[in-house]
Amino acid sequence: MSSKLRAGIVGGTGMVGQRFIALLENHPWFQVTAIAASAKSAGKTYEESVSGRWKLSTPMPEAVKSIMVQDASKVEEVAADVDLIFCAVDMKKEEIKALEEAYARTGTPVISNNSAHRWTPDVPMVIPEINPEHLKVIAQQRKRLGTETGFIAVKPNCSIQSYMPTMHALHDFKPSKVVVTTYQAISGAGKTFADWPEMIDNVIPFIGGEEEKSEQEPLRIWGSVTDNGIVKSEQPVITTQCIRVPVADGHMAAVFASFEQKPSKEEILERWSSFKGRPQELGLPSAPKQFITYFEEDNRPQTRLDRDIENGMGISAGRLREDSLYDYKFVSLSHNTVRGAAGGAVLIAELLKAEGYIQPK
Ligand SMILES: NC(=O)c1ccc[n+]([C@@H]2O[C@H](COP(=O)([O-])OP(=O)(O)OC[C@H]3O[C@@H](n4cnc5c(N)ncnc54)[C@H](OP(=O)(O)O)[C@@H]3O)[C@@H](O)[C@H]2O)c1
Repeated sequence: MSSKLRAGIVGGTGMVGQRFIALLENHPWFQVTAIAASAKSAGKTYEESVSGRWKLSTPMPEAVKSIMVQDASKVEEVAADVDLIFCAVDMKKEEIKALEEAYARTGTPVISNNSAHRWTPDVPMVIPEINPEHLKVIAQQRKRLGTETGFIAVKPNCSIQSYMPTMHALHDFKPSKVVVTTYQAISGAGKTFADWPEMIDNVIPFIGGEEEKSEQEPLRIWGSVTDNGIVKSEQPVITTQCIRVPVADGHMAAVFASFEQKPSKEEILERWSSFKGRPQELGLPSAPKQFITYFEEDNRPQTRLDRDIENGMGISAGRLREDSLYDYKFVSLSHNTVRGAAGGAVLIAELLKAEGYIQPK
């Protein structure tokens, strides 16, 4: 019998769900044993259910093709045979909140891509290299939900992975003002060019709700754990514009930043190249060996060339220079559906397992 933990993917037929399926193929710790989606997909094999809508360039893993898709609303049934759940459903926020809590109350850890619980005070929202200490708040959540083993942990919005890691590595210099423009791929809207031909040869200067998330979520990740959950940080002030660009995958950010203690350019480059977080210390399976890679070339990083760095889990940066209005400006890039979605969630699950929060049932 496999000694791997049994993972269920709720929303496994969607775009992020498919990424989970692909990333967990041959994962050393987790094995996909259950897939759930809406009632209209339930009762068919995964292969039948996703026929004609498999969106990845890699083929569907053989091991999941014959799994029978379950109805995600049958929580007890889905939870009965899994040790943890990854959740990526597209439903109304209140419905997602209730669904994820119902799964957690069955004693099942839920690692979610959805935004529904990102501001629930006792739910940790984690980038494992940045705020692993926020997992402590799970004890408060378990008390509220009345479970000893279940809980919800969430990952932040895909846009912020493109600039938070590079800013976090400079946190000791106390960033005070940060201006970010993001250039976001169409997969962030769950789309390909075939689904969204209007994006060919086009730029759309609006992504609903994205700027609020991009400005506020970093403050929660930089926040502190208190007896009343996570309290967000007041600093730095962040303002953003989020732009949809004709790119398949990869979110790039152009960043301007000022600091209370302005670092030298050499200090910034040194902090980026040496930055290591808990995933690197623990040697987690999906952790990038080099979290931030700096390119000296003026025309890098480029979305198509560099989004897959460290299997899509690394962050790349470039064009660091002094600015006339702010202290510095630079660009940085992350893969939105790997580091920014399913890969980021798998890394959270690995951290949770390594820290003892997920056990076989
Ligand atoms: N795309 C990204 O890059 C990205 C990044 C970060 C976060 N997210 C978030 O991740 C979530 C999923 O995004 P996506 O792009 O993968 O969406 P998607 O391709 O539209 O997939 C949605 C999934 O939700 C399921 N679903 C819809 N209604 C349901 C219901 N009533 N009950 C149970 N399952 C239901 C769908 O099942 P059926 O196939 O049966 O309809 C499908 O599996 C969203 O909350 C999104 O905001 C997306």
